[in-house]
Amino acid sequence: MKETRKYGVLFVCLGNICRSPAAQAVMQHMVDERGLSDRFYIDSAGTGGWHIGDMPDKRMRVHARPRGYELTHHARKVQASDFEDFDLIVGMDAANVDDLRCLAATIEQQDKVLMMGDYIRQFPNYDYVPDPYYEGSEGFELVLDLLEDSCENLLDQIIKHNHISK
Ligand code: 4NP
Repeated sequence: MKETRKYGVLFVCLGNICRSPAAQAVMQHMVDERGLSDRFYIDSAGTGGWHIGDMPDKRMRVHARPRGYELTHHARKVQASDFEDFDLIVGMDAANVDDLRCLAATIEQQDKVLMMGDYIRQFPNYDYVPDPYYEGSEGFELVLDLLEDSCENLLDQIIKHNHISK
């Protein structure tokens, strides 16, 4: 039987305790719902190292749960091997994307870096996923709304361009 390599997607934000672990959970949920769990590996990381080992922010977990997402990731920092291990590395905002492009060792690795905002369709006022850390409840709900929209579109594009099927 033909062995199919899994397609790797790494979501990246600043702290790896709010946006990117939420993106990881939203994308994993969509991949599972489409019956594609064994075609993908999904992870998240931060460009900063302040929260290494921490669970996602309590507020992010509380807002994600009613939508069906359990956030169980432990924060880690982006590392050089991520640029080899993953097919796509997706930053939540322009600073994340700039930092990731600086960390990339080659042009090929730079080309793996994408901006999550480019996949937002239903929220024309947003071309990035804003940091909710200093925001109230609406900031966390907004992050989840933007991620549900952008993950769906990103997943459609990945499946189409890589001819991925069950
Ligand atoms: P995140 O949010 O990048 O979405 O995980 C943040 C979490 C923590 C900090 C900044 C942003 N911080 O400065 O500690």
